[in-house]
Order: sequence, then C-alpha cells, then structure tokens
Amino acid sequence: MSERPRKIEITDPVEITVDGQTVTAQSGELLIEACERAGAYVPRFCYHPRMEPVGMCRMCLVEVDTGRGPALQPSCMLPVTPGMAVDTTGEKVAKAQDGVLEFLLANHPLDCPVCDKGGECPLQDQTVAYGPGESRFVEEKRHYTKPIPISETVYLDRERCILCDRCTRFAKEVAGDPLIHFAERGAQTEVATFPGEPFSSYFSGNTVQICPVGALTAKPYRFKARPWDLEESESTCTGCSVGCRVTVQSSRNEVLRFQGVDSDPVNWSWLCDKGRFGFEAGNSEDRLGEPLLRDGGELRPARWSDALTAAASALKGADADRVAVLGGARLTNEGQLAWARLAKSVVGTDHVDAQLGDGLPAEVVLDLPGATIDEVCAPGGTVLYLGPDPKEELPVLHLRLRHAAVNDRVKIVSVSPVATGLSEFAAADVHPRPGETAVLVAALFGGDVPSDGVAGVPAEQVLAARELLSGAQDLKVVVGRQNLAESAAVMVDAVAAVRAAVPTATFLPALRRANVRGALEAGLAPGRLPGRATLEAPGSWKDAWGSLPKSVGRDAEGILTAAAAGRIDVLVLLGADPLSDFPDRDLAAKALDAAGTVISVDPFVNASAARAADVVLAAAAFGEVAGTTTSLEGRVTTLAQQVTPPGTARADWLLAVELADRLGTDTKVATAEDLWAQMVEGSAAHAGASTEALADEANVDGVLLALDGSGFTAPAATQVPPQNSYSLRLVVNRSLYDHGTLLSHCPSSAPLSREATLVLGPADAESIAVTTGSPVKVTAQRATITAVATVVDSVPRGTAVLHHNLADADADGVDPGRIVIAGEPVTEIRVEAG
Ligand code: SF4
Ligand code: SF4
Ligand code: FES
Repeated sequence: MSERPRKIEITDPVEITVDGQTVTAQSGELLIEACERAGAYVPRFCYHPRMEPVGMCRMCLVEVDTGRGPALQPSCMLPVTPGMAVDTTGEKVAKAQDGVLEFLLANHPLDCPVCDKGGECPLQDQTVAYGPGESRFVEEKRHYTKPIPISETVYLDRERCILCDRCTRFAKEVAGDPLIHFAERGAQTEVATFPGEPFSSYFSGNTVQICPVGALTAKPYRFKARPWDLEESESTCTGCSVGCRVTVQSSRNEVLRFQGVDSDPVNWSWLCDKGRFGFEAGNSEDRLGEPLLRDGGELRPARWSDALTAAASALKGADADRVAVLGGARLTNEGQLAWARLAKSVVGTDHVDAQLGDGLPAEVVLDLPGATIDEVCAPGGTVLYLGPDPKEELPVLHLRLRHAAVNDRVKIVSVSPVATGLSEFAAADVHPRPGETAVLVAALFGGDVPSDGVAGVPAEQVLAARELLSGAQDLKVVVGRQNLAESAAVMVDAVAAVRAAVPTATFLPALRRANVRGALEAGLAPGRLPGRATLEAPGSWKDAWGSLPKSVGRDAEGILTAAAAGRIDVLVLLGADPLSDFPDRDLAAKALDAAGTVISVDPFVNASAARAADVVLAAAAFGEVAGTTTSLEGRVTTLAQQVTPPGTARADWLLAVELADRLGTDTKVATAEDLWAQMVEGSAAHAGASTEALADEANVDGVLLALDGSGFTAPAATQVPPQNSYSLRLVVNRSLYDHGTLLSHCPSSAPLSREATLVLGPADAESIAVTTGSPVKVTAQRATITAVATVVDSVPRGTAVLHHNLADADADGVDPGRIVIAGEPVTEIRVEAG
C-alpha cells in the first residue's frame, strides 16, 4: 500500500512504443516511469521515484531502439525521446535480468527464513519472477558480523546489502544528514557510518522502508511479525500537524509498524522517526483500559457508569462560567465537534481552548488567506519563514522545504531568534532579538535601516534579506510560535507587519499538535463555533445546537489564571497536559491545584491528571478510532481504525455524546459519521469533504478546506520593553524528542531526548567566564534555577536558549516553565557562573 502510482501531468507529450503498444509519455520523464504507467512494470532495486537515479543495480535493463538499433539500457537512467521503441520482456532482457540477479545473489546470504524482509522483499520476488532457478556459485560468500546497530533504532546487516545506494542517497539528498556512506572498494564495499558517529538522523526509519532487501531493519519491528500476518489500512500520522499519510500495519490486534505512503501534496512517502515509531505508545502497558476515580487521594479503577456519573454530575451542578475545557488537538475532527457541542451548547461555557498557550490565535489560523505545503514549496518561489524550527517540530515539512530550496530554487528568508534546521539552506537567515520579530519583519519590506541594524540584526543582513523579498511575487509566509518565552502577540504583530507590506501574501500556519487545525475548525477556541462561525455570527449552529454561550470566553492562559484564582469549578483536560505543555508551569500547577473537579479524557494518566484529576475517562488512541483529521494546511484526511482500544477505553466522540445524554441533550448521534455529516452540513468550508467525497479515489490525498480566510484584523502592537544590557532574552523552544506523554511511552524514542542545558553564545559565555559544561545560575523575575551551560556559536549575543519539557527537566531543575511568566511579551534572565 505504501507504493502509489505517481500521477503525472503530461504537458509536453511524446509518443513511444512499449512492448508493441503506443504510449504517450511526458517528454524527458524517465523510461522506467513511462513503462510503469503503461502497465509494463520494470523490476528495479536502486531506482526510487523521490530520489535522483544512479543506475547502480542494472536490474532495470530493457531493450531500447532509438533508431540506431536495439541495445540494453538501464531504464531508470534514460529519459524518453520521441519514437523510442522499448522491449521490456524479450529474450535478451530476460537474460540480462537473470544475469543481474545471479550477480546480486553471489554474495547474498540467502537467509530469507530468518530475515524480516522475507515475504515483502523485492530481491526475493524478483529472483522468483526473473532470476535463475538455481545458483552456480559454490565459493565462500563474504561474511560480516550481523547485524550491527548504526543508530538507536536501525540495524545493518551488511551481508544482505546489495549496494543499491538508496539509504546513502536518502541520507544525503533527502534528509541532509549524510551520516552513512559507502566504505571500502570492490567486493568489500559496505555501508558504514563515520567512526564514533552513529546514524542519528530524525529520518533514519525511511532508509529501512526503502532498503530493497533486509539489510536495514528497525528495532521496534524486528522479529515482531511476518508480512503475511499483517493486516493494514491507510491512515494519517498524528504525531504532528503535517499529516503524513501512513499505512498502519497490525497483527493480532496490535499495531506493529507504520510505513510512509507517497502522498504527492504532503509527505512524498517520507516519515520522521517520531511519527514512524510513535505507534509504540499505543501498545504501552501504561495505557488506560478503564476509567479512574480519585478515592482517598489515589486514582483507582472504576466502573464506566460511576465515572460518567461523576463527570456528568460535576458538569451539571456547575455554573457554566466556572467550567473550562482545555485541549482537544489529539482528537479526531468528529471528537472535536462532539466536545465543542458539549462544552458550548450543552454546558454553555465558552472557556474552551484547544491550544495550551503555545499556539497561534484562531484568527491567525483561520482568518488569513491560506497557503498549502505545495504552494509554499512551488519551484522558484519566495518564502518568509516565521515558524518554529521545522526540523524539530514539523519534520516532514522540513524535508519539503529543504527539497524546495536545494532542488527547486525556492528562496527562503528565515527569521527566527536562533539558528534552525533551515539555516544551512535558507537564502537568508536572520536572528532578531526575542520579542522584536515584528520590528525586523517590517524593516524587511522598507523604511530606513539604521547603521547599527534592526532588532539586533546587522544592517547589511537586513538589506540582503530585503533584496531577496523585494521582487517576490506571490509571497508565501510560514508562521508559528518560535519562542515559548515570549507571548503569542509577538508573532501576531509579525503577521500584521507582513500584511501591511504585502497584502497579497498567503500564510501556512506552522501548528504544533496533530489536529489543532481541526480543533479550531470545530470551534474549540474562545468565541469560535464550528466551520469558522463565531459567537457573533453563529450561522446555522444556533438552530442546530439550540443554545450558545452569551459572551466570548477565556483562552488557555485566561482559563489557568482563573482556575489558579479559584474561579473554575470544573476543568476538563481533553487529552491535555498543561503541567508539561503550558509554557508557564508554575501557573499550570497552581491552576490544577485550585480547580474544583478536574476531568481528564486521555489514553494515559498524564502528569496533570496524576496531580489533580478527580475523574479520568479512558480514551481510545490513534489507530483505535475511525474518523477524520485536519492538517496544518487544512487538508482533511481519513483516520483508520486498525485495532480495538485496550480494555473498555472509548472513543472521545462517544464520551462527549454520552455525557451530553446524561446532561439531558439528545445529540442524535449514533456514529462518528453522523457527527461529520453535521459538520459538513453546517460549514461551507467543509462542504466538499463529506464522507463520500473522502472515500472517492480522486480524493486519495484528502480534501483541502477553503483557504480564503479574509477576516484577520491587526490588533494593537505589543509593547516590548527595551532590553536591559545586563540581561539576556530567553528563547524556549521545542525538540523533536521531549518528555511528552506519548513519546515517553515509546521505548525506542524516549531515550533519544537531549540533555536539558542553558545554551549560550560564545560572547555571553565569555563575559561570565563559563564554557560548555560549567554550572550556571539563571535568575528571572519569578525564580532562580540552576543549569549546565552549552556554548554554541549560532546563538546570538544577548540571547539564551532553554528547551521545553526535556526528559530530565524535573530531575535537575532545568525547567523553563518555572521562570516563564504567561503573558509577558519577553522573558529576561540574568546568568551567572554558579
Ligand atoms: Fe541498498 Fe539497503 Fe544496502 Fe542501503 S543497506 S545500500 S538501501 S541494500
Ligand atoms: Fe508524523 Fe509529523 Fe513526523 Fe509526519 S512529520 S511522520 S505527521 S510526526
Ligand atoms: Fe535502474 Fe537500478 S533500477 S539501475
């Protein structure tokens, strides 16, 4: 299922003959592709449609006559030309294929019975289809230790390797992490890492998927199942908001593997390792199979009827203005709609926020003219990147941007407080002082540039970036939260600055959590209703839902502030863990402690639930609920139910419907499809995304919601106080492997989180006489914490970095959540050797 026939637009047709049939191909396309589309599959090992051809294996030899007589040619290296006559099945071709296979097998160990690839191995399959019936090779084969780990998750069996160069090309060409390469020569050639440097790439799992033999295997899947035992369905990864298409494979009701699917507008078959191996969390022994109720200070297993009664009676007895709902981005679109209705109509509160103070306001996501990933990456374009480090937060978007810049002449002007994964290939990479992004962005489009620069960026860099943007037709902007130690208003101001300068610019919101976009589209934000309706302009939702909140409610920061002040009687955590995720951990902790009844709806007991939940409703996780999800670009795709939830855990939508029922509202919902039908009926933006439309073959890559937002109005600009020359401005950003609830339940990924340190630039480190490894004391307005310093050249003077929610944050106290104060435009710190 991971191989999908490539769609190709024929703009410059060329006629060729394939096995006697006349075929129309696109001028210049590779012959191997043209033959495949014509139904003549040519066997191959090294060729991969998403990488440059190299002609390594010679398995794709076909007989080609271009008018000068037939000759055997590798079809993966040959562009089609008019009149080409191709034979893919003749005697000469068969003999060539047979010969190539005999050579490939000369050194192959033939350990198929114990090989993970057995049953889905192109070498096995092609040997049966095209190869010799028996081996003439009696000499000793080459031997290596097998297998050897080349990273935390990937094992290499060099005896099985056929030297196709796929893995090495992927690492260099696609991931930009050239950490594996060929070593030695001739028959001794082998894939190797550099001494002492493991293949630690965020994308290493892709090499396992594209290795055409069992030379590369992934630790989480090794020896778990045979391919013929697997059942599979196509779905969408919910590890982040990119929305990569995946095949979910399971055996005996346990998800065992994700394989990337080649979705042309999204992930091109690639996955990041966090997403690829994220299925492990679903199989964790810590999964909740039954609800819990707090009893004598402890969370103890309970019956569903008791847990639902406890939740319903808390909601029923509460004043709606004292009820709040945090989270919802983990849910399906259907679950989000059901919870939005429960909160906003049945309970009647508008204190609802799917984001945890680390996202973008709903108006930036829904009310700006949107851009798709394909539009951002369109050849020759110009992109202003104002998002978080995509390599750490949206890894496959990073791959698409990298390809666009390296291969398709896309000029990326990257603006972020510190260097990111984009820095090495961005056309311009500028680092404004934290909090001053909007000032810099305005300067990128015009006005005087003082000789000492703008927002800490030297004048020549400002002018060089301005030059790149000046001729930009059709500017694309990627915007997201870059720094959790500054308020969201900083990025909203930057958006307003772009809009003022380039009113035609379109925007791709770089959202963090998987289905934040869907949550906002479903109304899980203050003042919002499904389908981009608002409390002021509710459209048909007023009639459909009966009653609505009277006034606009609080966002996450407001909810937690109110809870900390004892003004929230019921706090629902919808797959949310504010203690780990809200940038101001101190406020989150106070809020959880002071809230009345805390109801957690989650597949796990997360840190917030362990601290404060009175009721935990066991929810189904990814792969256990069918439905739909919406990616950052507004692409609605399907989620498959591949296995059943553990114990009696239930789908989120079902829990909302049951609670509504107990509160006296018949939602007329019996299935998830009923909910989606309500969404499609009530929202013009969703009109093309009905269940039937999503099932249509033409919509195999999902359905894009309308992206013509036009309601954004610029708020008053945030006032950022001038930087005190004795202090540093703090940047708090995310790493791919942090201590999030799901990741910490993935045995393969959990150990990969980096050490929590305070990262400083060399000038600031020198001024306080610290070097990498020195202990430092970090003093901010609220608290002092201790940390170990790491000195990195790429951090600008006056700036320091802490990573959010790392594994050892609690253990050694390096927790930015203790010093970041929610709502402050910037966080100033003093650092001393200590
Ligand atoms: Fe090809 Fe696999 Fe060998 Fe890499 S390890 S060169 S992908 S056969
Ligand atoms: Fe999943 Fe995001 Fe990684 Fe894609 S980039 S595989 S959606 S976590
Ligand atoms: Fe063409 Fe390998 S597939 S040479």
